[in-house]
Amino acid sequence: MRRYEGRRVLVTGGGKGIGAGIVRRLAAEGAHVIVAGRTRSSVEEVADEVGGEAVQVDISDVEAAQAAIVAAGTLDVLVNNAGFDDPGFFSDTTPERWRRLLDTNLMGTFACTQAALPGMRAAGYGRILNVGSEAGRIGSKGNAVYAATKGALSAFTKSIAREEARYGITVNCLVVGPVDTPLLDQVRATEHGPRMVAAMKAGTLVRRLGRVEEIAAAAAFACAEEASFVTAEDLAVSGGMGIA
Ligand SMILES: NC(=O)c1ccc[n+]([C@@H]2O[C@H](COP(=O)([O-])OP(=O)(O)OC[C@H]3O[C@@H](n4cnc5c(N)ncnc54)[C@H](OP(=O)(O)O)[C@@H]3O)[C@@H](O)[C@H]2O)c1
Repeated sequence: MRRYEGRRVLVTGGGKGIGAGIVRRLAAEGAHVIVAGRTRSSVEEVADEVGGEAVQVDISDVEAAQAAIVAAGTLDVLVNNAGFDDPGFFSDTTPERWRRLLDTNLMGTFACTQAALPGMRAAGYGRILNVGSEAGRIGSKGNAVYAATKGALSAFTKSIAREEARYGITVNCLVVGPVDTPLLDQVRATEHGPRMVAAMKAGTLVRRLGRVEEIAAAAAFACAEEASFVTAEDLAVSGGMGIA
């Protein structure tokens, strides 16, 4: 299927993991993809692979994030995927650690979204997909602040969907379950990491981690033109974790 022919797509955190998977899938369906992210070498590598553009930006810097989105020109699709986790029991964490999570997972998403809206409004078309997490719906031991940022993304999604519907812009949140990516490797490397990852698997109905391609397939649906009646949704791709 070439559902994305002629579409300009920007994916934050597109240099590895889920973001890179979404880049590859949408490019394979015909999109021109702008791969945005913090590490220049990885965004360039993925952009080269798909014949797209690379943009080096740390989205926790609000002004830089907004400038990068504006410089990218009018977008048909914005995937707010960049995010990170910093596992640890809440009682042991510090306000500095909370703030770093908020700066990327929320402030960065706010900045990219706001900067993309004028172009989408003018075109009367847009697809915004925020990458959330089951942690934001059901909580996650050892990930309290991360979970709070992801829960907030769902609320943000619904509100922006309400505000932008009249301009032909849909806004959805992909509620992702545990997926084997470099982020999960970082969780594994922490003191209680192996137990946390085992609990994540056990917490799904399918008793396994998700694959990047499975998340990318759902993203490709949510961001397609044909998903025009789907907005303000939490679209769970989590192996049934929400009810397991
Ligand atoms: N993997 C899971 O189990 C899982 C579950 C639920 C939700 N999610 C969500 O899915 C999204 C992608 O996760 P992932 O597992 O693919 O993580 P990942 O493998 O760590 O990749 C995240 C990407 O985001 C980039 N990034 C992080 N902070 C950034 C910033 N401030 N500015 C620009 N780019 C930044 C990273 O750049 P660098 O290369 O510089 O690190 C990296 O390319 C995240 O929002 C995550 O919360 C993941």
